Amino acid sequence: MSIISKDISKAVTLLTAAEVVAIPTETVYGLAGNIYSEKAIKAIFETKKRPFFNPLIVHIPSIDSLNTIVEDIPEKAQLLAEAFWPGPVTLVLKKKNTIPDIITAGKDTVAVRVPNHPTTLELLNRLDFPLAAPSANPFSSISPTTAQHVETYFKDQIKMVLDGGACTSGIESTIIGFENDEPIIYRLGSTALEDIERIVGNIEIKNRKEITPDAPGMLERHYAPKTKTVLTGNILKILPVYKGKRIGLITFQSEIKDNSVEVQLALSKTGNLTESASNLYDVLHQLDKMQLDVIIAERLPDHGLGKSINDRLQRATANI
Ligand code: TXA
Ligand code: MG
Repeated sequence: MSIISKDISKAVTLLTAAEVVAIPTETVYGLAGNIYSEKAIKAIFETKKRPFFNPLIVHIPSIDSLNTIVEDIPEKAQLLAEAFWPGPVTLVLKKKNTIPDIITAGKDTVAVRVPNHPTTLELLNRLDFPLAAPSANPFSSISPTTAQHVETYFKDQIKMVLDGGACTSGIESTIIGFENDEPIIYRLGSTALEDIERIVGNIEIKNRKEITPDAPGMLERHYAPKTKTVLTGNILKILPVYKGKRIGLITFQSEIKDNSVEVQLALSKTGNLTESASNLYDVLHQLDKMQLDVIIAERLPDHGLGKSINDRLQRATANI
């Protein structure tokens, strides 16, 4: 029997009983549990095979609950929360000491956001505790953007995937930390850098190597298909290199006329970056199932969400 269900009351019952439930968000599906239940949180780490040094994001129902999670709120954090919540911005702030160490991997900061999905907002409002939820994929594989993706990964290991349809944003939230009360980007994501800078001015993007292992979403190889994947700025030039191989192609919007390509999928036929982000992981999931020798992905324009998508493609293709 399928573990996929739209029954919010059932999710409330399971979560209250310290079980793990996969939940929809606007970015990707999350593997959720009560932040105050050690049993639930341990089960999240074990199900994902995620190392315990990698902290989790806390999901709250509204900006009003923020002060129950964090100790102090810098002015620019308040501005960002007001501008983007509910939505795909995660703030890393000094934690209250009531937040268990297992959530934050012993750090004195906690990552927190209000997700923008009606089903999960209703769920959070009906629970009397926040939910910790990493993306609902095995550690370092492609994040899930449909309930079916989650079921394929975990069907024997969790009792329920709360079905909220396909995720609209399609890549993870943008993570913003604070140093001396100034915001710094820890992970590019579904809220474009330019939109964040409109609220808080110029913002630094922390170098991946500097941040690892602070934010393992920043690890070189992450979000990766099992199939060898390469990223290129020039598809026509790279195709002859893989002559005779079974090639799957991900383009931004164009269709490439070349017989050596077995299958090709465009992220957005109209060249829309928002649509591209929402399709990215599903396209990777589809191609990864096809027993191809190589997936060749075209680099997107390096602005707006294109920058965040390029970041994910870069990690999906890192050769380590
Ligand atoms: O869109 C999202 O953010 C999704 C949905 C489910 O909300 N969640 C998500 O969670 O992507 P996860 O666990 O896959 O990625 C969270 C990232 C990790 O790279 C983790 O290291 C980082 O957030 N993180 C969590 N707490 C942190 C902290 N205190 N300091 C620095 N990084 C932190
Ligand atoms: Mg993840």
